[in-house]
Amino acid sequence: MSASRGGPRGGKRTRRGTKAGGFSGRSLKEKVRTAKGRSTSSTRWLKRQLSDPYVEEAQRRGYRARSAFKLAQMDDKLRLIRRGARVLDLGAAPGSWSQVALERAGAQVVGIDLEEVEPLAGATFLVGDVREPETAERLRAALPGPADLVMSDMAAAATGHGPTDHLRTMALVEAALDIAEALLAPGGAFVAKVLQGGTEAGLLARLKRGFRKVQHIKPPASRKDSAELYVIATGFRGVPEEPDSRPEEPPEGAPQDTA
Ligand SMILES: C[S@@+](CC[C@H](N)C(=O)[O-])C[C@H]1O[C@@H](n2cnc3c(N)ncnc32)[C@H](O)[C@@H]1O
Repeated sequence: MSASRGGPRGGKRTRRGTKAGGFSGRSLKEKVRTAKGRSTSSTRWLKRQLSDPYVEEAQRRGYRARSAFKLAQMDDKLRLIRRGARVLDLGAAPGSWSQVALERAGAQVVGIDLEEVEPLAGATFLVGDVREPETAERLRAALPGPADLVMSDMAAAATGHGPTDHLRTMALVEAALDIAEALLAPGGAFVAKVLQGGTEAGLLARLKRGFRKVQHIKPPASRKDSAELYVIATGFRGVPEEPDSRPEEPPEGAPQDTA
């Protein structure tokens, strides 16, 4: 377990990042041309990257991933990132959502990922698993106060077996919601990646109890052939009370049930 507080981008390489913040110096076109022995699927991936305007735009603007635009587009629509907000970024690597939160609102960002995230000025990154019970307390200790926005772009590694992938992703959404319920300020917002078909009934009911408004969005930057979409819950009301399961006390003077 470790934490890093960022200075300007730079420093050691992480598995996903490079010194330039996620992009190597070679252009994608160059990479395709020089590939030898590359599998058909990775060639297909590179070709798709080449024809994707968001990839080039992300590179031009210095974002670590094209997914930056997904958050930016959701924020354009719903104004999720408020000035000076405290933001939790769950599944933060390589860090492009944190970049957007910082640049849009001078937000105070705390992120966590299974992988180390390359430092970013204004953000604190922890390495850890959101499913671990101690994670919420680690995040609370790193945040300077209750969170205004908890966002999760976490995805379980695809197994190729649809139902398994769905279950794993939903488990991550539930873990993210546990953290949101523990750390959000009243009025706060929660954003999480879910898979097509939306949010499961039980989870949706929980979101509707805890938040004033719940909606699903597929931002334009989310690839059409991807099953992902985002659930966005705003106006946190606080953790809903469990319904009281104790039997009601009989009113005073009522005849006792002697059966
Ligand atoms: C799609 S990436 C996030 C991209 C990020 N939003 C960005 O724009 O840079 C999903 C991340 O979720 C992380 N992740 C998956 N399961 C996790 C878990 N249980 N705990 C913490 N992070 C997790 C993965 O390591 C991966 O880096």
